[in-house]
Amino acid sequence: MFNPHFMNKRRLTKAAFFLAIGAMGTAMIITPACDGGGSDAKTEEQPAAEESEATMEKPPASELAFRNAVGDPPPGWAGPVFELSHNYPTSLPEGNPQEMFPWLQMDVDFDSDEVQWNAQWEEYIQSIKDYVGQGQDPNLPNALGFQTNIGGNTMWYHIPWMAYDPKTGREFTHGTTNERTAHISDFVGSGLMHGVNSIAGATSEEAGFETWAVGCYNDFGGYAVGQAWGQSGTPNYTTEGGQVEVKGLPFPEGTVVVKVLFTTATPEDVPYLEGSAQWEVNRHVQLSPSKYSCERAVAPVYLVQMDVAVVDHRSPTNWVFGTFAYNGTIDAGTVWDRMVPVGLQWGMDGQSWPAVPKENEMPIHESVLAPINIYEHDGCYKRLAGPVDNKQSSCMSCHGGAFVPPNGQIGTMGTNIPPIFGFPTLCKEVDEANSAYFTTYKWPEKYPSGQYNDALNLDFSLQMWVAFLQYANWNVNGQPDPCTD
Ligand code: HEC
Repeated sequence: MFNPHFMNKRRLTKAAFFLAIGAMGTAMIITPACDGGGSDAKTEEQPAAEESEATMEKPPASELAFRNAVGDPPPGWAGPVFELSHNYPTSLPEGNPQEMFPWLQMDVDFDSDEVQWNAQWEEYIQSIKDYVGQGQDPNLPNALGFQTNIGGNTMWYHIPWMAYDPKTGREFTHGTTNERTAHISDFVGSGLMHGVNSIAGATSEEAGFETWAVGCYNDFGGYAVGQAWGQSGTPNYTTEGGQVEVKGLPFPEGTVVVKVLFTTATPEDVPYLEGSAQWEVNRHVQLSPSKYSCERAVAPVYLVQMDVAVVDHRSPTNWVFGTFAYNGTIDAGTVWDRMVPVGLQWGMDGQSWPAVPKENEMPIHESVLAPINIYEHDGCYKRLAGPVDNKQSSCMSCHGGAFVPPNGQIGTMGTNIPPIFGFPTLCKEVDEANSAYFTTYKWPEKYPSGQYNDALNLDFSLQMWVAFLQYANWNVNGQPDPCTD
């Protein structure tokens, strides 16, 4: 894992924020840096931000929040250049989502005690895929990337503040951010090592394959994002029933989110990536099979996974998450056609292990996995997770930790916000941490453990969570720490 060397010890002792993405995954670190003092994020409800000692001038929030990437393209660059889509709708889009979006009309049962993949689930996820694919080139070529402007209109919006951190922040070709590092066993399972690792000197277990991904929200979701952030790049809050909430949340029904995930593993490493979309992204230079440098260079990555999430009021969490895997072994015309469903999830299955002991449990009934003829990807106890996700987790358990401290304070997992990645017993035994992590709840409820009642609920959006935590770094410390090897 390359990231431990990113850690700045001096900062860590103070308030650093270390996100281990996955038990054996890489780490993503959001470290605070030098401070600039006051914040224009203070609102009436949210008075003093944390004080800090440094006096350095800090750039205005709006500049950092809405910048496209952590570095500019080099002079003479002729390839694609990412532009942040942040002209958020200022009013809720017109129309009744329940009439506009076919999945909201489909007769699927989120309350059943047992579930199986069937034609209804297939149709549900397929209708989301059809919506998401509108106007995209079905081969998602590098030159076009994932387009936000469809037929002259903005269809997709990005989250601010994700180009702040020089280590993991957005790169300039496609706006992807650096996420969990995967290993060959993630792609093909242990004991099923048919993937040959092409990186010199690597054994299949130790090599790390970085993930670079970019996600966006449709107009319903984009409206909520714009309410939360506005033009200033600082968050807006409202008070509802005496409780401070982030303005614009919860996301309205009609919200659709899509995220495309690319891996540095090649089709030689993982044969079923054959024929996948190849993008060139400004990614970390690889120093050895398991070590990546801060230095970035444009190099190929391959589409491996596509996540979607929609607000559906019938779900016990108000959300349905779904994922697709790229499957180059099937006979289908385009990259888009070769993105096959992996499954859907609408809750954390709090009545199943490890939220409760196996003696008292119910079968998993808030995740449904699709049959797939490549290595079956799943998460904790057959809850849903995607090809490059942490197998001890699941989509919604991890996203259920989308809470941030109030007042633009630095977030520290396990202290003032819930741990979303790899706590030591994750998916290993029944304990309080697992019971909370795998409990179904919905906005505006507080985190199920009852431990983080001051934290603001971000309605399952971990991109909003990244944005708030980056903003907090700026608020408290000004500049992010430079990336150091
Ligand atoms: C162990 C944690 C973890 C797991 C498991 C996980 N995600 Fe995420 N996801 C994240 C983080 C962190 C982000 C924000 C960073 C980013 O998008 O670059 C994110 C972002 C997203 C986004 C963009 C919008 C948002 O809510 O932030 C979608 C959509 C998404 N994930 C869907 C899924 C789906 C579907 C699965 C399961 C197949 C899944 N995720 C599993 C951590 C996780």
